[in-house]
Amino acid sequence: MKLILLGAPGAGKGTQAERIAAKLGIPTISTGNILREAIANGTEIGLRAKGFMDQGQLVPDDVIIGIVRERLSQPDCAKGYILDGMPRTIPQAQALEDAGIHFDCVVSMEIDDAVIERRMTGRRVCLACGASYHVEANPPKTADVCDHCGKPLSVRKDDAPETVRSRLAVYHRETEPLKGFYEKLGNLKLVDGNQPIADITAAILRAIGA
Ligand code: AP5
Ligand code: MG
Repeated sequence: MKLILLGAPGAGKGTQAERIAAKLGIPTISTGNILREAIANGTEIGLRAKGFMDQGQLVPDDVIIGIVRERLSQPDCAKGYILDGMPRTIPQAQALEDAGIHFDCVVSMEIDDAVIERRMTGRRVCLACGASYHVEANPPKTADVCDHCGKPLSVRKDDAPETVRSRLAVYHRETEPLKGFYEKLGNLKLVDGNQPIADITAAILRAIGA
């Protein structure tokens, strides 16, 4: 199973990717998490990405395409994977197709812009393993501690309200057109992202026939 989760910032891509990956036994590849790790480690890619991310802008396509091609060539991807946060532009989607990487299903998680700000203000993330929580909708077992790896949780720098507004504008301009791209390829499914977390997981599993 090769699956793409599309959706606005805060649509729940990371939350659902984690749940579906555990269910199907395949890895999740989150470009956002890879970039945050690169920034934390001070790598060259991290230094290049940081300014774009802090302003809610997209990191250049060539950086992303390089990262993802390298990641998909690793052995744990042989049986399939879930892409979370990539592709985000038509050139990124085209680069995957040109590399002969085709997807069984592209799920777009549809959510109203008004719901997003509430989700972002309550989000807490684990910078060590990438897990994502919400103080009310999906709290960790112990406040501010990751259930998976026990590391402290933090607030993402780009969740400040003005940065969230930039990210939403970028989503509508650059990423939403991907729905038309995949509709033409015949593998697009729409799922209502305004539901409770478990209901969305069930809807995605139905959409992908799992
Ligand atoms: P990235 O990390 O991908 O961020 P994003 O797309 O903006 O999405 P988020 O991670 O903010 O939201 P999500 O959909 O994963 O929601 P989550 O599950 O956490 O990218 C960050 C930046 O990196 C970009 O701005 C860009 O600069 C760069 N970048 C990354 N990939 C790139 C690419 N391909 N090209 C160029 N640049 C790239 O949920 C959000 C919150 O809501 C959580 O608190 C969660 O617990 C809660 N929640 C989830 N579902 C529900 C629900 N159903 N009900 C109630 N609460 C819920
Ligand atoms: Mg995410």
